[in-house]
Amino acid sequence: MARILITSAIPYINGIKHLGNLVGSQLPADLYARYCRAMGDEVLFLCATDEHGTPAELAAAKAGEAVADYCARMWQVQKDLADGFRLSFDMYGRSSSPQNHALTQHFAGRLAEAGLIEEVIESQVYSNADGRFLPDRYIEGTCPNCAYDKARGDQCENCTKQLDPTDLIEPRSAISGSTDLEVRETRHLYLRQRSLRDQLADWIESKKDWPILTTSIAKKWLNDGDGLQDRGITRDLDWGIPVKKGPEDWPGMEGKVFYVWFDAPIEYIASAKEWSDARGGDDAEWERWWRTDKGADDVKYVQFMGKDNVPFHTLSFPATIIGSGEPWKLVDYIKSFNYLNYDGGQFSTSQGRGVFMDQALDILPADYWRWWLLSHAPENSDSEFTWDNFQTSVNKDLADVLGNFVSRVTKFCRSKFGEEVPTGGSWGADEDALIAKLDTGLKAYQRDMEAIEIRKASNELRALWVAGNEYLQNAAPWSVFKEDPEKAGAQIRLALNLIRVYAVISAPFIPDAAAKMLSAMNTLDTEWPNDMKAALTALPDAHAFSVPDVLFAKISDEDRETWETKFSGTRD
Ligand code: 2FM
Ligand code: ZN
Repeated sequence: MARILITSAIPYINGIKHLGNLVGSQLPADLYARYCRAMGDEVLFLCATDEHGTPAELAAAKAGEAVADYCARMWQVQKDLADGFRLSFDMYGRSSSPQNHALTQHFAGRLAEAGLIEEVIESQVYSNADGRFLPDRYIEGTCPNCAYDKARGDQCENCTKQLDPTDLIEPRSAISGSTDLEVRETRHLYLRQRSLRDQLADWIESKKDWPILTTSIAKKWLNDGDGLQDRGITRDLDWGIPVKKGPEDWPGMEGKVFYVWFDAPIEYIASAKEWSDARGGDDAEWERWWRTDKGADDVKYVQFMGKDNVPFHTLSFPATIIGSGEPWKLVDYIKSFNYLNYDGGQFSTSQGRGVFMDQALDILPADYWRWWLLSHAPENSDSEFTWDNFQTSVNKDLADVLGNFVSRVTKFCRSKFGEEVPTGGSWGADEDALIAKLDTGLKAYQRDMEAIEIRKASNELRALWVAGNEYLQNAAPWSVFKEDPEKAGAQIRLALNLIRVYAVISAPFIPDAAAKMLSAMNTLDTEWPNDMKAALTALPDAHAFSVPDVLFAKISDEDRETWETKFSGTRD
């Protein structure tokens, strides 16, 4: 039995995520976790909310709430949506947890002891009206290059020139609009990533099996321009993890917090501790997943994320881990994703463009979305959600192919043999051919799932559903029944067993429908069909079953048009 540690990029706390976010990390991570569990692996699947940083502070202020209250509330909102999409995390933690505070401070202390932290005095813009230092992107003004009057302190979005806040003409606070700004000196900590460059390069070079998307981004950041830069890991903010060396104060760093991107990946570790703490377990319980000196050397660690997160996971977080000099587990495989676009443009959280997780569940159950998103995952290039494509996939794959098979088989059986598995009759060449086909197809499906080739895996799964339909169409038990009811009974017996097999192998994609199919087949047997012939005789003769409700309702043209219009604008 393999042990697999799986983490999904942890979503920012501010605001509900859109379907593009979902398919870029949490949903494919769930697919893989469910598959590994079905294969009998021991899985620990972790996620959390990413709660620090200026955007969280500003969102709280906008909502008129204290930031801690805002985060607690939004954690629950995001957790409920994760449950709604059936994301099967073992722990949905919080980067603001006490566990993460302690671990983040621990790592900083270790890095300091290893001589990897440098203290730097910087000049930064301070807003008297806001009573705070302003991050570069929260300073606005006129671009010295193109005169655009809403240029940000890090970049002008009009002419794309990279800027320093001091370059701006008539700078003002983007938070309050105040122009009462001054430049103040402030002390910050930098992680000397440059001194770890060779170790990081060797490590990335050794990962021959990683997706090209992952390694190409990692190598670009390692080698382009000036290469790997030392990185500021502290900020002048109120909300965050106080800068400390382990449990000790850090002289000169009072009132400062760690940068959100320093503590967020450490939450991958902290959420494992949150998990074992919540179960009343001891440290050994989570450390056997994370410490190679405590049992994690045989763990396979797989991370899921969007492409914008790759530099932090291939360079920054590994630099923290390697630099600590302690035996923490490094990631073994990074599955990254391109972007999902929405109907001719981009999904956008700030503009409220696209379909958001809460809205999606308001109109259709999770499985419909899971199937479409996973079967169109933006693996090799960006992909696009259109309502037309969504309607077609749902209606064809889920309703016409899988749903129809289940309904035809169970209803026909009920009308001719009653609601129990028919006995008698035997299989011939057609059944042998089907079994061979299912066997080959299932192996291909497993290969793709193991390689986390999600689109390919969904194609294989669909082909398995199609094979059952074709068999049924050719065998035509409704005609055979007139001449040879026993033979028709044997055909239907196979088909009923196939419903159980479909439930088991489809569950990682569509867990709710799979559960309905198993319950209709009145069985708890979720054994993987390694031996297809045996799996197709698993239900005992005369075993009672029931006809399930419609598994997947078709999306009408009218629904499609209504939703298309409803989601064509932006949400507030
Ligand atoms: O891009 C994002 O949504 C970040 N909140 C991901 C953080 S992943 C990790 F480092 F914790
Ligand atoms: Zn400009």
